[in-house]
This record gives sequence, structure tokens and C-alpha cells, in this order.
Amino acid sequence: MKYHITTYGCQMNLHESEKIAGILNACGYDEECGEEEADIIVFNTCCIRENAENHAFGNIGALKKLKKRKPSLLIAMGGCMAQEAGKAEYIKRKFPFVATKKTVVSLKEERETVEDGITPVRKSYPNAWVNITYGCNNFCTYCIVPYVRGREKSRAPEEILKEVEGLVQAGYKEITLLGQNVNSYSGNGMRFPELLDKVASIGGNFRVAFMTSHPKDFSEELVAVMKKHPKICRRLHLPAQAGSDRILSLMNRRYTREKYLNEIALLRREIPDCEVTTDLIVGFPTETEEEFGETLTLVREAGFSSAFTFVYSPRTGTKAAEMEGQIPEDVSKSRIMRLVECVNRQTREKSARCVGQTLEILVEDYDEKKGFYLGRDSYGRMGYFKSNRDRVGEFVKLKITKANGVSLFGEEQ
Ligand code: 5AD
Ligand code: SF4
Repeated sequence: MKYHITTYGCQMNLHESEKIAGILNACGYDEECGEEEADIIVFNTCCIRENAENHAFGNIGALKKLKKRKPSLLIAMGGCMAQEAGKAEYIKRKFPFVATKKTVVSLKEERETVEDGITPVRKSYPNAWVNITYGCNNFCTYCIVPYVRGREKSRAPEEILKEVEGLVQAGYKEITLLGQNVNSYSGNGMRFPELLDKVASIGGNFRVAFMTSHPKDFSEELVAVMKKHPKICRRLHLPAQAGSDRILSLMNRRYTREKYLNEIALLRREIPDCEVTTDLIVGFPTETEEEFGETLTLVREAGFSSAFTFVYSPRTGTKAAEMEGQIPEDVSKSRIMRLVECVNRQTREKSARCVGQTLEILVEDYDEKKGFYLGRDSYGRMGYFKSNRDRVGEFVKLKITKANGVSLFGEEQ
């Protein structure tokens, strides 16, 4: 039987869809296909912002016709939206043809570490995602994740190392350790820097990446481990969210602008060429024009190579949604446009400086439309090149001849 999975949201969800595929395989759905031919369609949803939800609603609603034509079709929904208070019931009312499942896999609560025991069907070769933690304890006031994903739990280090060793042996070239806040990992007493050290000490030709790091738990030990292992990617995703101390405090981020910038300074002192990317939110309740300006100046001061930028979206059940001083849409729109422009300018400048340099990329994919192979280097830079044979999964040295936004075009050396 055939299946189709539509995934919204973050890397965590992309990896969980690989696990859903694993569960479906075990149930006899062993061929992936388009929506039209599928016997089961699964939506793996995201609820981090309102537009993620609207997107899912739109696509689910559009399947009503297909279901009418093919009554045996199963349409299922899981992921973060299904975990939201009252949302599953709402969906059942609005789309009666959809089966919602709240918790597919219940992580055992009583043990210190957790295992979901599912073998994923991996679709991201040459990268492989490996969960190290599930859930989040931070309760940033804007964020719904702790409510839908529950308390943070770590996997045992032995389980993680066993999984990574198997993946490296199977030929995966990039291992990405995943957690809402990898820096607070604690598995049977082992902390994140030690785990990372052990993962990067596994033999073989592969790279190690990790995400996401929370600035409040960033440490010198982590930088030391990164410096020690050339296998660890020279990029750090460190969400700042805002540049103003008053807003950071209202967000319950538990660091100041100064502490954040000091962490970046420490990183650059030890690994001068390390690239830093971030997440930024504009229009948090009560944010003034001046405070927004501090986010703009942070982009420069921190020297981000790129950033994910978001308009604050109130999420029912979170503290920030109840705060006075919600920012009007037109104000947020104007701020996000200025922020995107500021980030893009910096990204373009950094890209332009790569022309003439040689990058070593891990080839990830072939872009049919453009006719180029593409991949990223250890710093996260995206390189494109032409080749007349399949190169996916190879490390390739590219001499960069042209920069176009974030895309770098080059010739193989
Ligand atoms: N509104 C806008 N952006 C949000 N994020 C999380 N919650 C919200 C929200 N309510 C952003 C944060 C986080 C990223 C994954 O999504 O920047 O780091
Ligand atoms: Fe959300 Fe904050 Fe947890 Fe990240 S650290 S998932 S922003 S609550």
C-alpha cells in the first residue's frame, strides 16, 4: 500500500516524518507516492506561528474532494497542532474526514532517559538527523513548544553513539544532533560538550552539526570541543530573538545582549572563522521603535551570516499572548521588512567575499530546474556546480566564480 506524508515546520518535524514513514512501513504502507495515488495521507503539522497552522488547514481542506472520490483514503494528522489544547477536537468538527492522533509515541516518563524505539526511513541522505533530546523546559513567553512537546527528556548517550556509529557505517556523511535546546542535554549524567566530543571522535569521513543552541546554556567547554574537532561544522545556530534587554527579559530568555555578544566574542576568539546564524522576532508585545533598532544593530555587531526572521505571532496559552501592548500588524510589517533587508545585505556581503575562494561542500542534491548539483560547506555556505555524473554524498572542492545572494556558483577543483 502507498503513503504520502506532508511535513510542516522544523528539522525536528522532518525527522519525525522519517519516523512516521518507519511506522507506516511496519503497518504495510511501504511505497511513498503523490497525494493522488496514496492509500493514506499523513499531515505532520507545526503550530509555532499562526501562518503555519493556516497553511495546514488550507491543504487539509483541499483534500475533501479527493476523499469523496476515494472513500477508502485515510487522512491522518499528527505533530504539534494535534497536541494543542482543543485543536484536535476543532479539527474533528471542521474536517470530519480527518483522523487525529494525539500521541503516537508516548515517551516513558518514569526513566531518566527516553527511547522512542522507532526505526526511521531516512530521506535526507547524505545527512542523518539524530535526536538527542525531546521537549523543552524553557518557557520563552512567546513559544508554544513546551506546551505541545512537553518536558525536556534526553536519550542515553550509549543509544545516541550506537545510532551515529551505525549511520556512519551506512555511509551518511553529515550527522545533525537535534534538540530544542541541545546545550541542556543531560543523559545519565553526561552533558552536551562531552556527548559532542564522543560523537566527533567516531572514526570515518563525516561532519557533525547540531541544533538548536540556547544562549543561556552556551559554554566555554562547548567551544573547546568544537575547536578540538575539525569534523564539527564551523557554524553555530544561536537564536538571539531580540537585541533589547527589556524585550529579552519579557521573553524570559534569561540572557542579556551583552552576555550574548560575549559568547560570540568567545567563539570567534577560539574559532575566528566560525559562522553564526540566528532567529529573530519583531513586534513582540510593547516593543518600541528604539528597541527594534537594537535588533537591527545586533545583526551587525554579532556579524550573523544569515538569520531566520519572524513576525511575533500570539499563541493561545502562552504568557505573551496575554500581555498588554500587542503590536499592530502594519508596525510589525514595516519592522520585518527593514530587518530582512538588513540581514540580506549582510548575507550578500559575506557571499561576495567568497568569490575566488575554494569551498569544500558536501553534495546534497541535484537541482533539476537549474541543472546544478548543490551542497553546503562546514560553514553552511551553499555551493552550486555542474557535473555529468551523480555526485550526491561526495565531498567536492569548489572554486567560487560567482555569488548570487546566498548561492555561490563554482567549478570543481
Ligand atoms: N511568534 C513568532 N516567532 C516564534 N518563534 C517561536 N515562537 C514564535 C511566535 N509565537 C520563533 C523563534 C524560534 C523559532 C523556531 O521560531 O524565533 O527560535
Ligand atoms: Fe520555544 Fe524557547 Fe523552548 Fe526554543 S527554548 S523551543 S523558543 S520555549
